[in-house]
Amino acid sequence: MCGIVGYMGPKEAAPILIKGLHRLEYRGYDSAGIALINGNGKLSIYKTKGKVANLEKLLSDKDVSGCVGIAHTRWATHGEPNEANAHPHLSEHNNIALIHNGIIENYKALKEELVSKGYHFYSDTDTEVIVQLIQYIMDTHKISLTEAVPQALANVIGAYAIAIIDKDNPDVMIAARKGSPLIVGIGKDEFFIGSDATPIVEYTDKVVYLEEGQIALMERGKELQVTDLNKINISPVVKKLEISLEEIEKGGFADFMLKEIYEQPQTLRNSMSGRLHPDLGEVRLSGIIDNKEKFLNARRIIICACGTSWHAALIGKYMIEEIARIPVEVEYSSEFRYRNPVIYDDDIVIAISQSGETADTLAALKLARTKGAFLFGICNVVGSSIPRETDSGCYTHAGPEIGVASTKAFTAQVSTLALLALSLAKEKGTIDDATRLRLVAELQRIPDKIEKILKHDRNISMLAPIFTYARNFIYLGRGYNYPVALEGALKLKEISYIHAEGYPAAEMKHGPIALIDEELPVVVIATRKGKYDKIVSNIQEIKSRKGKIISIVTEGDVDVRKISDWSFEIPDTEECFVPLLSTIPLQLLAYHIAVVKGRNVDQPRNLAKSVTVE
Ligand code: AGP
Ligand code: GLU
Repeated sequence: MCGIVGYMGPKEAAPILIKGLHRLEYRGYDSAGIALINGNGKLSIYKTKGKVANLEKLLSDKDVSGCVGIAHTRWATHGEPNEANAHPHLSEHNNIALIHNGIIENYKALKEELVSKGYHFYSDTDTEVIVQLIQYIMDTHKISLTEAVPQALANVIGAYAIAIIDKDNPDVMIAARKGSPLIVGIGKDEFFIGSDATPIVEYTDKVVYLEEGQIALMERGKELQVTDLNKINISPVVKKLEISLEEIEKGGFADFMLKEIYEQPQTLRNSMSGRLHPDLGEVRLSGIIDNKEKFLNARRIIICACGTSWHAALIGKYMIEEIARIPVEVEYSSEFRYRNPVIYDDDIVIAISQSGETADTLAALKLARTKGAFLFGICNVVGSSIPRETDSGCYTHAGPEIGVASTKAFTAQVSTLALLALSLAKEKGTIDDATRLRLVAELQRIPDKIEKILKHDRNISMLAPIFTYARNFIYLGRGYNYPVALEGALKLKEISYIHAEGYPAAEMKHGPIALIDEELPVVVIATRKGKYDKIVSNIQEIKSRKGKIISIVTEGDVDVRKISDWSFEIPDTEECFVPLLSTIPLQLLAYHIAVVKGRNVDQPRNLAKSVTVE
């Protein structure tokens, strides 16, 4: 949460920073701000409530000269979203400007101490204590900014990614991280800072991913210097960025979310490419091959995740247990990390995360590490924290996902889990060759089948206006379609703000059935495989209470169609792969309802793409 961008070099900083903020806006968008130092040593700060567009408007008649600057788009944790709380924050002598992503847990105690020493605070944020603490250390010890930063950071407890500029040292920019992500880009005589690579990719492909507790010192005319909090030099590892500009732009679609829904056939091909070998009837996942013994001897697998990634985890559990016969537990990272769970040293803990930065999931991994479990990551963002914290893993290769509501990252997680289950099944010999060959061949066909479903988009968009009245929705599914029901409901509530609940269909009669009346839309995923007859009975139960039924059915279905008010078909497939198809119409339904309701689908209210605070 919060987007951080910084620039120092020969060019004007403001346009680079504003463009960078737009790219990072998915991380937070309740207020935005910028600080620039111009050639005369003047430090200008502009901040405003609301989106980056508001900041741009504010800047239109302002002096935005300067070749060094930092900028921020906020997702408030401490203090309401207003101009005073927007970053950058200034130090007591109005010379140091700082932006921050994270939470400073001991800010109250630090603030009280600094106030008692005569330092003034102008915001309700936790962030302001960092810049005042740096100033205080400089004032009392008569030391430079570069010396004061590690000392200040040694005194703060919590998570941070920060970027700092100083009016008195305009040729220096400092960045540091602990718990929140930060990347430094290295161009020709110029440096960039970004919460992720999106603001940097246009200018350079040379980046350094700062590690926990590292500080980057960028000085004009010098090489990048990296130290730890004890000021010990570390030689930075320069990596090549692997995303392209095209991947992070809308490419003619109205929203990133729609573009990402449509990208799914290709993202699934990418996520399976080089891993799925239908000619050999095999799956080769290096993360499994390299750690074969660990997986063969695993007592059980525990999957930790949040939100949509948790839904993918549940599908993964069904697949792994069915195909590879290893017991799997699925945990919300936020619960797991705080409840002293039983973890054995022959357990494998898998973290699933699109961003690879989710604070609760990272903390769950750290806990599992202390108990000796083997840690495996399934992440989308290359070079993010989880892949670096785990012993092994595999990327989902969905490409950058910008829409806050996850779509293509979800299906890529599910297909990666399918690969993992098949690969484990082969190693463990839990399915016969004929079954494996059949499943591998079918997985290969899934992207084409998604293409077919996307052709029905228009029918789904025509249905959307009917439901703008609805205040509640229920989503029902059984077996593999139960997590799909949860995900369909999450999509709808995230982007349309209509309350929606997902349930295992048979649970309905234990409570939610009381909600059904002639106004309640009930989405039932009633595909042919699985407990089809049972779900037909569940639909009858809703029908007899006058609920409005929208069903997702297998091509050629007659029975469910007959008793539904509206139906959408998906191609037939193996039961364990149904979620890869049944989720697509639900993504489109949520998208179109949200559009008809006039919502900002890419940046829904109160949400942020990457939840780097707990
Ligand atoms: C998805 O649509 C959500 N915005 C959210 O639930 C998300 O899946 C969750 O925050 C986990 O994120 P991660 O996959 O990056 O860890
Ligand atoms: N805690 C800071 C604030 O509220 C930064 C928030 C964040 O990183 O999301 O301003």
